[in-house]
Amino acid sequence: MKDITLGDGRKMPVLGLGTWQLSGSSCTETVKTALELGYRHIDTAERYGNHREVGEALKGIDRSEIFLTSKAWRTELDRRSLLAACNKALSELQTDYIDLYLIHWPNDRIPIEESLSAMEELVRENKIRSFGVSNFDEKRLEDALAFSKNIATNQVEFHPYLYQKELLGFCSKNSIPLTAYSPLARGLVNSDPVLREIGERHGKTPAQVSLRWLIQHGLAAIPKGSSERHQKENMDIFDFSLSKKEMDAVDSIKKEKRLVNPAFTRIPFFDSVPKKAIKFAGKFIR
Ligand SMILES: NC(=O)c1ccc[n+]([C@@H]2O[C@H](COP(=O)([O-])OP(=O)(O)OC[C@H]3O[C@@H](n4cnc5c(N)ncnc54)[C@H](OP(=O)(O)O)[C@@H]3O)[C@@H](O)[C@H]2O)c1
Repeated sequence: MKDITLGDGRKMPVLGLGTWQLSGSSCTETVKTALELGYRHIDTAERYGNHREVGEALKGIDRSEIFLTSKAWRTELDRRSLLAACNKALSELQTDYIDLYLIHWPNDRIPIEESLSAMEELVRENKIRSFGVSNFDEKRLEDALAFSKNIATNQVEFHPYLYQKELLGFCSKNSIPLTAYSPLARGLVNSDPVLREIGERHGKTPAQVSLRWLIQHGLAAIPKGSSERHQKENMDIFDFSLSKKEMDAVDSIKKEKRLVNPAFTRIPFFDSVPKKAIKFAGKFIR
């Protein structure tokens, strides 16, 4: 498996397994299957509620061979909560350290300096190796970079239907690689005619073309595949490459289709609105 160099100089396998919506014993089995196939990078989060199951799957594997990412939820970003969230994650994952710990979503009510300084504390305590952010736009990244030059990655939604060219340019300039989540647009890419046509030329599927496009743009990708067939297929992308013309063709698909758009990013002042009101509003806002 190829590596990508993170913003702090450490390495991360360029392809990982996403685990959102995997739960219970099937989560453990799915992660075990991936490890048997050769996956060495697993992406989880406190919010996914599957730390224990992921930890279970890692048992018996040399920990130093695995790159494990987890994320702290946006309400846990003050120093005390972040340290506690990390300790909880370590205990649930049954591991001594997390390779990459991310701020799952920004929360403008908690100063980024406080969260990043707590992250640095976790590095000094050997509880995490690297830290980074997720779902950060350019402005928030600038604020984060003003405090720390060691932001390992920015994990964001990125696929042929959401080609975030400006963000990619900004991150490249600042040597922060992007990690693409929902890299297959949750399976939507499979019926795309442009990707299909390119794939047919290479004997590959649209999903494989999508992943290859991301990697050739310098991103890491964490597709979720619950079946062995999908997991295998998603790994089998290192024996072909897309020409400049093919890259341009995928760049031009442009549908601006954002799939992950939670309520707190859409409701102004979400954090200061009482929870009851949000629940009520949630009935009307999609
Ligand atoms: N940081 C964040 O805020 C954030 C947000 C969303 C996601 N993530 C992370 O990113 C990971 C991936 O994103 P995602 O789960 O939203 O979407 P995704 O990886 O784009 O798509 C997953 C879907 O595609 C299917 N699939 C997988 N491989 C395929 C293939 N080769 N051909 C056809 N279909 C295929 C899967 O089916 P099967 O499961 O049936 O195989 C599943 O339905 C998550 O699991 C999570 O770890 C992070």
